[in-house]
Amino acid sequence: MRKMMAMMVMLLSLPAAAQDYRGGRVLAERWCMACHIVEREPRSATADGVPTFPAIAAKPGTTAASLDSYLSTGHTRMPDFQLSRGERNALVSYILSLR
Ligand code: HEC
Repeated sequence: MRKMMAMMVMLLSLPAAAQDYRGGRVLAERWCMACHIVEREPRSATADGVPTFPAIAAKPGTTAASLDSYLSTGHTRMPDFQLSRGERNALVSYILSLR
């Protein structure tokens, strides 16, 4: 319990962007990991034809805006998660943190 409290205090004292990115990682592990490699390693470009998050982050055309708009709509081979703005922001900052 005390450990929990310490964690909470730590999280609360982090700048907003860092919190976003941690939340994004949790969301990615919950929703995206079924298809994508969402971790920094291994740095392969694709797994079973699906681009990995580090590879997406590394693409020259990838920006916060491009990711946000990609995640706002459904895709042929990707489910439409109907993400909230906050969830999109968290996922976008997590993906970009893999650069
Ligand atoms: C059912 C499998 C599946 C799941 C789950 C999934 N994706 Fe995807 N994703 C794909 C595939 C396949 C592609 C390649 C493009 C396509 O075929 O639609 C893709 C492409 C992408 C791209 C664009 C990559 C590029 O080259 O620009 C992004 C960004 C992305 N996914 C993010 C996410 C996020 C964030 C989640 C979790 C909320 C997620 N995906 C969950 C299958 C999935």
